Order: sequence, then C-alpha cells, then structure tokens
Amino acid sequence: MSIQVLTEEQQASAREAGKILHDCLDMLKAKVQPGISTAELDTLAEEFIRSRGGEPAFKGYHGYTATLCTSVNEECVHGIPGERILEEGDIVAVDCGVRIRGVYTDACRTVAVGSIAPEAQKLLDVTAQALVLAVQVIKGGIRSGDISETIQNYVEEQGFKPVQSLTGHGLGDTLHQPPDIPNIGLSGTGLVIPAGTLIAVEPIVSAGSDQIAEAADGWTLSITDNALSAHFEHTILVTEDGCEVLS
Ligand code: MF3
Ligand code: CO
Repeated sequence: MSIQVLTEEQQASAREAGKILHDCLDMLKAKVQPGISTAELDTLAEEFIRSRGGEPAFKGYHGYTATLCTSVNEECVHGIPGERILEEGDIVAVDCGVRIRGVYTDACRTVAVGSIAPEAQKLLDVTAQALVLAVQVIKGGIRSGDISETIQNYVEEQGFKPVQSLTGHGLGDTLHQPPDIPNIGLSGTGLVIPAGTLIAVEPIVSAGSDQIAEAADGWTLSITDNALSAHFEHTILVTEDGCEVLS
C-alpha cells in the first residue's frame, strides 16, 4: 500500500472525526481520578463517541474489543481497559480512535491521576512538548525522518528515551498505513509526505529502558525495567504550507 492523499470529502470526514476525538479526550481527562476503573473510562468513551455520530475506531481492529487503550505507568501502549482501579500517583495513557464515513483518526494523551511525582510530571511535559515541536516542522514535502529527528533530539536532550520499536503511522481508509513515522531517525531520510496525507505522530517515551515486552493478554506492551512511560498522539492533516492538528 502506498501513501494515501485524502480527497476533500475524506478531509472533511477526518476533521469531523478529529473534533469528536478531541472532545472525547477532554471529557475523559476530567474523569481520570483516583478510584475510577479503566473499564468505566472505556464505557464513557464509547457512549460519547456514538452520541456524537462517530464510531469507535479500535473496536474490531484485529479482534480488539474496546474503545480505548489505557496504559498505566510502565505500560506504554495497547493496555486493555478492565477492572484496574486508577490510584493516586499513577499516570495513564488514554488512547482512542474515531471513524466517520470510513475515515480513521487516532489520538492519545497521558494523564496524571491525582498528584504525581515531579519526575513523572517531567516525563509527561517532555513527551507532550516533543509532539508540539514535531507539529511545527510538518508541511507538505517533508520526509518522515524530519519528524523523527525532531522528536529524538528533544527527548534525548531532556534525559529520556523514545521507544524505538513503536512508531507513528499514516491514516485514512485504515487505522495504520504508510508512512511509518518513527520517533528516532535522521532528517532527510524516510518517505516524502505530500500535502493531503493524514498522519498520526506519537512520541512514546521511557524514563528508563527503551526495551518493551508484550503481556500474556497479547496486547499490552510494557517497558521491560518497569520504568514509567508516556504517550501523546495527534492525528494531523498535512497541508501545502503546514498542517492542521485535527485531534
Ligand atoms: N493508537 C494505537 C496505535 O497506533 C491504536 C491501537 S488500536 C488497537 O497503535 F486496536 F490496537 F488497540
Ligand atoms: Co496511533
């Protein structure tokens, strides 16, 4: 499969889905507090998305059964919502996708549960800022490595490590499609990204090892030394002279 340039109609669907996704993540952020379970967050998300006329994009993806991925502390992605109760001091990555008229969007924010340690707060701030800096370099005609290098340089300068094996990706008719957007790389390398491409840029950053392992559930990926990990992700429409952050 090659890079998909979205039609005007598809771009309109992506904007609509991205707005629902943005509002859903705002709603969830306000609900994250000690005592709530990740399954409760998942129910709230599905109800919210459907009430706004969207479809949960992760449900049914390779057999995945939930609306959200909720990854707590050392879990870095694809945590499955369940009975786990969030506790004061945890951090939880709330990852969600919305589909409208067959067009996919995908976004994540890592949220503090109550008050968290200063080092955990720094990890959240650095990961969020890596995404802000990446957005600033995106425009039609750049290469994926231009984004990768921006993320890697900033994260490493701040004393953390991007998880190399997890990458951003293109979106459109599917949730994951070319181009890959690694969080480590060199500018001037990788695929050229034309205007009209929809991409998910998603720095996933560890405060310890950059090695990950899969849990017995077949989905949850965690940092092997149990260090904290944070994940921020936006769905971004690439334009001639910049980009639109849709989520
Ligand atoms: N944001 C996640 C990713 O890009 C989407 C996971 S979909 C799931 O990997 F079905 F795998 F949960
Ligand atoms: Co993604």
